[in-house]
Amino acid sequence: MTSNKKLNWGILGAARINQQLMPAIVAAENSELIAIASRRPNAAAETLAKYAPQQNNVTIYDSPEALLKDDNIQAVYIPLANDEHAKWTLHAIEQGKHVLCEKPMALTVTDIEAIESAAKKNKVTVMEGFMYRFHPQHVRVKEIIDSGLIGEVRSVRSCFSYMMQPARHYRIAGTIEQGSGAMWDIGCYAIHAARLPFYDQTPVAVSAMAKHIDSGADISCNGIIDYGDGKYAHFDFGFEHARRAEYEIIGSKGGLKCHNVWAKQAETPVISWWTEAGQQCTETLPLANHFCLEVEHFSHCVLNELQPGLSLADAKQNCLVINATLDSIKLGQRIKI
Ligand SMILES: NC(=O)c1ccc[n+]([C@@H]2O[C@H](COP(=O)([O-])OP(=O)(O)OC[C@H]3O[C@@H](n4cnc5c(N)ncnc54)[C@H](OP(=O)(O)O)[C@@H]3O)[C@@H](O)[C@H]2O)c1
Repeated sequence: MTSNKKLNWGILGAARINQQLMPAIVAAENSELIAIASRRPNAAAETLAKYAPQQNNVTIYDSPEALLKDDNIQAVYIPLANDEHAKWTLHAIEQGKHVLCEKPMALTVTDIEAIESAAKKNKVTVMEGFMYRFHPQHVRVKEIIDSGLIGEVRSVRSCFSYMMQPARHYRIAGTIEQGSGAMWDIGCYAIHAARLPFYDQTPVAVSAMAKHIDSGADISCNGIIDYGDGKYAHFDFGFEHARRAEYEIIGSKGGLKCHNVWAKQAETPVISWWTEAGQQCTETLPLANHFCLEVEHFSHCVLNELQPGLSLADAKQNCLVINATLDSIKLGQRIKI
């Protein structure tokens, strides 16, 4: 069953990432931005004026609690700090709201299990906001793998890094347990992408190492997820390196590379692949806005009672690998999953 209706959205905080998400909700044809909340005076109004100045009918709330009581809001986007995600996702679910929560959905698997059971009880849809997965380039990657062109996937390497600007240092000012540091900021992406070609397989162990700074936050990390039978997914990420946002997949007959994974909207998506038989190809895909595609997908799923493309099972699996990685770093050991 399809619907021409729009989903009414509220935003639960005046975060910087609204620069991307707010215009995406406004632009999505099946979505209507009707409210935003902030606990700081004027911050919600300023965010609205900055990122969606043409929107006249958006209600401003001075707390997330007040926004969640608005019966006209069907779905909320949660862009709060990482250690507030689980708590506010649960509050929103209890108020009967569908939830698109920024990555990472939670810092522990236990919290995601609580979210899963609350969502089931309240019959709402909840999705972790890994927006990059809604870029069509990853559909093309899956097509190439499924076609058998590169053979059986044996190895993956994903990298996400850039030099952190001083203005963003607040993101590494706390401890890992508080949701600060490179792992919760960009490592969760690198691990998510490294798991991508092994979507139907369960990891058996993780080994990793990291550099930490005085606050207790990690600032760079290298790790390997062991999928058994000699299949490995390597990931590295950090805030002390030149920008890289890519993954490479090596199969038994060839390989492919996705060059701009966490692409900025103006970056041309490029996938290159090769085979042992001597074929080589570089494919350039059309530009796409993965934030807008993410919002449209979520609204479409809610309006049509469909399961979203990113499941809570996937969120749990990612969180499990992240926490095994953190344990491996802390203990200096390979951690079985
Ligand atoms: N998908 C992506 O591409 C992407 C990119 C960046 C970040 N993220 C994720 O999005 C989430 C938000 O990240 P962000 O960097 O946008 O967060 P941020 O600007 O630090 O905002 C997070 C929350 O902190 C509060 N806040 C903001 N500025 C503040 C200030 N100056 N003083 C006190 N409180 C302040 C706001 O809540 P109130 O309005 O209620 O005060 C806001 O909702 C994180 O979970 C992050 O992992 C995703």
